[in-house]
Amino acid sequence: MEVIIMDTYEEISAAAARVIADLVHNKPDAVLGLATGSTPLGLYKELIRMHKKEGLNFSKVTTFNLDEYVGLTPDHPQSYHYFMNENLFKHINVQPQNTHVPSGTTDDFFSFCEWYEDKIEEFGGIDIQVLGIGGDGHIAFNEPGSSLASRTRVKTLAKQTIDDNARFFSRAEDVPVYAITMGVGTILEAEICLLVANGKGKADAVAAAIEGPVSAACTASALQLHPQAMYFIDEAAASKLKMRDYYKWIQEKKPDAPNC
Ligand code: PGA
Repeated sequence: MEVIIMDTYEEISAAAARVIADLVHNKPDAVLGLATGSTPLGLYKELIRMHKKEGLNFSKVTTFNLDEYVGLTPDHPQSYHYFMNENLFKHINVQPQNTHVPSGTTDDFFSFCEWYEDKIEEFGGIDIQVLGIGGDGHIAFNEPGSSLASRTRVKTLAKQTIDDNARFFSRAEDVPVYAITMGVGTILEAEICLLVANGKGKADAVAAAIEGPVSAACTASALQLHPQAMYFIDEAAASKLKMRDYYKWIQEKKPDAPNC
């Protein structure tokens, strides 16, 4: 696990975007796992800037999103299809047919979930999976209690998640109660997991995920089992980490570390 702590949201967004840009430079047909929510917006802005100013080329890239609300059509302003189009896809040269966001309106969720898993496999798996973290420690919509071996499926959202996301809907009662989400097991198969978190509101979840026990009560803690999990967190989100100074020390010493 690599814990990278930086002063500001802008810095973590730029550093996380750089990891993705390096992958896309080295592997133009990379498979990216993408996330929604407010946290990855800075990272997406930076990728858009790199596309426009530095020619970062997404023409052969394939994307798979983590989740979608059940019941929202792709043109619903709060759907994750809409979010991805507005905040990333329409600003870069990714081919629409290469982007995948789970369907919130399929009439056969079971088959769709199997299809989605198969599709990820068909593309050779996800190279980098971008993740945010919920206030309750969830990754994607894997709420507390989700199996750490779970696969893509329909999940009932926790009350806290519904409350957290109510700010995006005109009426709290409009927030969907169900979502289709990649499972923790699906996420753990990505080559690299890259989690971004900022702000005081995430400090408890980040501390539980990085320093707490591996537990279904905090599904992000499953990343402790992943061989290449990277956390990009700002000082506020890092404020409850007991070993904060040690993570910073590791990053300081990293340029001189022997390679193996
Ligand atoms: P946020 O959501 O980025 O909007 O804070 C993160 C999440 O719930 O996964």
